[in-house]
Amino acid sequence: MVSRVIPVDTFDLVIFGGTGDLARRKILPGLFRRFLSGQMPEGSRIIGAARSEMDSDGYREMIADAVAEFGGEESKDKKGLQAFLACLDYVAIDAKGEGGWAELAALVRHDVVQAFYFSVAPSLFGDLAERLHSNKIATSDSRIVVEKPFGRDLESARALNATLAAHFDESQIYRIDHYLGKETVQNLMAVRFGNVLFEPLWNNHYVDHIQITVAETVGVGGRGAYYDKSGAMRDMVQNHLMQLLCLIAMEPPSQFGADSVRDEKLKVIRALQPIDHHHIVRGQYDAGRDGQGYRADVENPRSFTESFIAMRCHIANWRWAGVPFYLRTGKRMKARSSEIAVVFKDLGHSIFEEDEARHRNILSIRLQPNEGMDLQVTIKEPGPGGMRLIDVPLDMTFAEALGADDHEVTDAYERLIMDVIRGNQTLFMRGDEVEAAWAWTDPLINAWEARNDVPKLYDAGSAGPEDAMMLLHRDGRRWREIKG
Ligand SMILES: NC(=O)c1ccc[n+]([C@@H]2O[C@H](COP(=O)([O-])OP(=O)(O)OC[C@H]3O[C@@H](n4cnc5c(N)ncnc54)[C@H](OP(=O)(O)O)[C@@H]3O)[C@@H](O)[C@H]2O)c1
Repeated sequence: MVSRVIPVDTFDLVIFGGTGDLARRKILPGLFRRFLSGQMPEGSRIIGAARSEMDSDGYREMIADAVAEFGGEESKDKKGLQAFLACLDYVAIDAKGEGGWAELAALVRHDVVQAFYFSVAPSLFGDLAERLHSNKIATSDSRIVVEKPFGRDLESARALNATLAAHFDESQIYRIDHYLGKETVQNLMAVRFGNVLFEPLWNNHYVDHIQITVAETVGVGGRGAYYDKSGAMRDMVQNHLMQLLCLIAMEPPSQFGADSVRDEKLKVIRALQPIDHHHIVRGQYDAGRDGQGYRADVENPRSFTESFIAMRCHIANWRWAGVPFYLRTGKRMKARSSEIAVVFKDLGHSIFEEDEARHRNILSIRLQPNEGMDLQVTIKEPGPGGMRLIDVPLDMTFAEALGADDHEVTDAYERLIMDVIRGNQTLFMRGDEVEAAWAWTDPLINAWEARNDVPKLYDAGSAGPEDAMMLLHRDGRRWREIKG
């Protein structure tokens, strides 16, 4: 099945931090794929901006190298790459200085879609917003894209929101969470609200519990200093996991529009109950066979920061009363795997007397690897062995089911950037959502900091600390296996 590519309007996209890791690894290779697919219309321009002194030719060389390194198969299309590079310009600008702004003002047009990607540290957002206005570059139609982390607590998130709001309306601000750009996440909404099958079962009458797992095999890498001040709660739960939780738990919005969806997500966050500390397990990876432990990685022998967290949450509303949501995420785990599993209740009564095993329907939605979903259903074991039941998955891996080749499996970043150009904010976090998420996580973080909570050690390459297993065992449940 060939996906339809609908070109967006002609645009000027300025990437502040255009020489940085994110721009070279994700943003520009993604834009190159959109260019090759025909989605980026002729006449669109991409302007890199950072302090490093270089001219546009130097920038094109840098991006050609980045596409060769991170662009996958498509980077072999040399003719396509040359045409893409011709759309690039570069301006040397210090967000905190005055040089380069006049040059940028001369390049950015006012009669096409204008977007400014702030791929820089959040401490520079205010300077960029202010100078875009004082130099009369941004207009009331411009869009700005801001990256995570959006604050480190409620107070700093409020301050960031206020800084941006001083120059841009909320309708112009796109707070990116790349998890929301994944094909599966959007399919979660398609499956829930596009089928008659699931929604009637999507409540505490039929759902036993829900598990959300985001497991990484990598450690903190080169981000040790940043990560050690953040930890898994701030780095993963407050944004990615809570966004997934919102999409799985929200009420059906009246329409698939940005504010309708975000209003419903906000209600979920506001209905989250405070968590007792016995229902939170924090972990820190220990040295494994193939690497050093967390404390050595972050060069802080006394660090109490968690590289793993598991928790049991409850949503206080009619739909979900009594249904636990188990969340876990960690680094240096046994496999790289992200999934949401909706575990349905046992049958009220089984007519199959010969069969003593417990059978459950489980809908699992895989974000990585192999984006897709499967529904575990119970059928009769083939053969003459009587009425024995087995559980089998009805599996749909999107790439296989839809016959998508590499060109069609769009990366989350490129999908979201195209949404920015289209002016569609549905998959971006609104300011009040971010603040509500911090308002829920802040007291949990403050409480464990106040009691000097020491994270439990877990072996690198494992499924996390033993206490995380106990969190579910105590409830008569078990985590799903983490499989790559
Ligand atoms: N990398 C990722 O995978 C990732 C993932 C999620 C979120 N993020 C977020 O995305 C943002 C960028 O991350 P990154 O990894 O790309 O960082 P990075 O590699 O350190 O790049 C930072 C960029 O900002 C530019 N810059 C720094 N100070 C500047 C100034 N005063 N004026 C103008 N430009 C300036 C740098 O270029 P010059 O030094 O030449 O100025 C560089 O292009 C950060 O907020 C980060 O938290 C990154």
